[in-house]
Amino acid sequence: MRRGCFITLEGPEGAGKSTVARGLQAELERRGVSVLLTREPGGTPLAEKLRAVLLQKGGESITPQAETLLMFSARALHVTNLIRPALASGRWVICDRFTDASYAYQGAGRNVPTILIDQLADAVHGDLWPDRTLLLDLPVADGMRRVRERNTGTDRFEQEGLAFFERVRQCYLQRATADPQRFRILDAGQDAAAVLAAAVAALPAASGP
Ligand code: TYD
Repeated sequence: MRRGCFITLEGPEGAGKSTVARGLQAELERRGVSVLLTREPGGTPLAEKLRAVLLQKGGESITPQAETLLMFSARALHVTNLIRPALASGRWVICDRFTDASYAYQGAGRNVPTILIDQLADAVHGDLWPDRTLLLDLPVADGMRRVRERNTGTDRFEQEGLAFFERVRQCYLQRATADPQRFRILDAGQDAAAVLAAAVAALPAASGP
């Protein structure tokens, strides 16, 4: 059986990734493609527990290295127990964040050495990288404003300041520029319908009927 396509969504807080993810799922299902919509950190019962640990504010401080290892623990469960089996059965996987987020948030954001992230990525998912990554790019201040307007409270990451998110954004843009085969950069400042249309247009060619 032909392996499904692995698509990831990346971008800053407030870029609208989850709305685009749901829209892509609906579009692909309309074309007869079976889609697993999932997210990181999380996606499996145990990985979702690690997500809760990672996003919770207060309590014992999580060092950057521990944060990185927890992200990759969650990813190891997710890749092995959910993503690989789904792809092997021919389903497409749309994942809200993946290892690019570890380079952006832990690497650029928290100054965790890139070599550690390289090694963890290699150990945890080796040859498995997304077939396509949609980077929903947005100026940092605009994303932060959207998070505030959402009014759902902030998680441990959303408490960070402008400089942190600027490093995250620049890292994403650098990674996208370095690998134009895999990445497509979308302007997340447009209205939701326009962002979704651009995301649909950026799907790999194999998604045709
Ligand atoms: P996300 O679900 O995208 O949060 P939101 O919907 O509020 O944007 O991601 C949760 C947080 O986890 C987000 O702030 C980014 C962070 N994160 C990392 O720091 N490293 C990672 O490897 C991943 C996957 C996420």
